[in-house]
Amino acid sequence: MEDSEEAPAEVHHYNEIHEVPWDIQNYWSQRYRIFSKYDEGIWLTDDAWFGVTPEPVANKIAADLAGAAPDGRIILIDAFAGAGGNTIAFAKTGKWRRVYGIEKNPAVLQCAKHNAKIYGVADKITWFEGDCFEILKNQLKDLAPYSVVFASPPWGGPGYRSDDVFSLRTMEPYSLETLFKEYSAFTKHMALYLPRTSDVQQIAKYVPDGQQATVMHYCMEGHSKALCVFYGDFNVS
Ligand SMILES: C[S@@+](CC[C@H](N)C(=O)[O-])C[C@H]1O[C@@H](n2cnc3c(N)ncnc32)[C@H](O)[C@@H]1O
Repeated sequence: MEDSEEAPAEVHHYNEIHEVPWDIQNYWSQRYRIFSKYDEGIWLTDDAWFGVTPEPVANKIAADLAGAAPDGRIILIDAFAGAGGNTIAFAKTGKWRRVYGIEKNPAVLQCAKHNAKIYGVADKITWFEGDCFEILKNQLKDLAPYSVVFASPPWGGPGYRSDDVFSLRTMEPYSLETLFKEYSAFTKHMALYLPRTSDVQQIAKYVPDGQQATVMHYCMEGHSKALCVFYGDFNVS
């Protein structure tokens, strides 16, 4: 890619394992599963490595959402864009009139913008730097009738792995209740990407009587990587 932009100080593209901080070496060794175009100059902050949705999972979620969205929903808003793993996959489907990516950390947002260029989808995405809850209420409110919200919130660090059942009530910094309330003030069509061991009873609490939500597990190499809950009128099969 021709690109003369300069990376912010906290953004890196590691080429050799000896450059990589020890706690992300395991992630770096899986870099091509995270971004198949890693060698084309993918940017990440050290923290962003922990949260990126690996490309095959992001592609499958994007295909599912594209196939299942209700008629008239032509805009996809990725509320926690991170380094762009999901946002790029949504843009690649060609399904959406526009994809919006919101990220509050400026350096991480720079990564997402840069990575979207590498994948050739920069012109399909509008980026916002800031708090997704505020941006939905203010800048994006007129798009609500046409939109689907996707959210891959922080899960509170790698500690989520040790829980047999992960509580979405104590998820940090945003509980499921906060996410659901905030997003449902904007749209009832939302997909939330959550830990694989998330408490299904807590997920069910937000489904109106007689209606349904779909929970899909996304797997790699025979293991569930995470689940996605689809609230609203999605036709996921
Ligand atoms: C799990 S990561 C998202 C990873 C992303 N799906 C990807 O594949 O690269 C969550 C991101 O949400 C951002 N974030 C946290 N609170 C936010 C908020 N209120 N509004 C927007 N972004 C927020 C964090 O900075 C972090 O980059």
